[in-house]
Amino acid sequence: MNDLLKNTLLRAVHAGADVLKHFFEGTFEVHSKDTLNNLVTEVDKKAEDAIIDVIKSEFPEHFILSEEVGELSTTSNYKWIIDPIDGTVNFAHGIPICCVSIGLERDGEMQMGVVFNPFMNELFFAERGKGAFLNNRKLTVSKNNQIESACLVTGFPYRWVDVGTDPIAVFERFIRLGLPVRRLGSAAIDLCWVAAGRFDGFWEYNLNPWDIAAGYLIIEEAGGRISNFSGDKYSVYDKQTLATNGHIHEQMLEVIKNQA
Ligand code: IPD
Ligand code: CA
Ligand code: CA
Repeated sequence: MNDLLKNTLLRAVHAGADVLKHFFEGTFEVHSKDTLNNLVTEVDKKAEDAIIDVIKSEFPEHFILSEEVGELSTTSNYKWIIDPIDGTVNFAHGIPICCVSIGLERDGEMQMGVVFNPFMNELFFAERGKGAFLNNRKLTVSKNNQIESACLVTGFPYRWVDVGTDPIAVFERFIRLGLPVRRLGSAAIDLCWVAAGRFDGFWEYNLNPWDIAAGYLIIEEAGGRISNFSGDKYSVYDKQTLATNGHIHEQMLEVIKNQA
């Protein structure tokens, strides 16, 4: 069963990525969602259709949660959590930092995750208990245990009104510590790049389960730590995400909570 799940996951991510590659830097329709710059393109929907077609061809009874189509709900204990393009704003501007992200949950626990950026030919994959990989290379998080020399990445929500704490204030505290903080525009890639040791830590407010589902397992399987801003055990349905190499986790929590 696991082999079939894994094959289906990989076929699905490639089917989605083929759609991204076909349209990249070409012409396609772009629309705003709840705010002007929260975009959805026809490519998001076409990629989503291609991904769901693959999953349904093998597992028509499985639950699907996908960003554009919402919940295709059944009573199955398997749930596929899909972001057909993570980094849609980048995609719409021809910036090749975007990906397809798919996580597979069983009984509420993430079992497998894949994040594929076809423009850099980087496929991140993790299976619970079996490690995380970039293409065929096993991943481990960075060893840095000093926040003073950390390289961080973050993102900002499209809507500010429903964000309880001010993300700019947190960002400012990290910048005032003199730290390099990058902003790539794809939370799934941010998480994978922490797993790959390129970044030491990532935080963001108000992400959605499809942004995090796959990257969450990839971080954990690479030896990293992920929590909310209280340091509690993480759920992809949380609205606060801190993912680190583990070593600087408590130090980042102190800055986020303004207790440093
Ligand atoms: C977005 C990206 C971005 C993050 C936003 C997300 P989308 O996803 O992950 O990095 O800052 O909060 O909504 O809209 O490109 O799928
Ligand atoms: Ca997303
Ligand atoms: Ca998306």
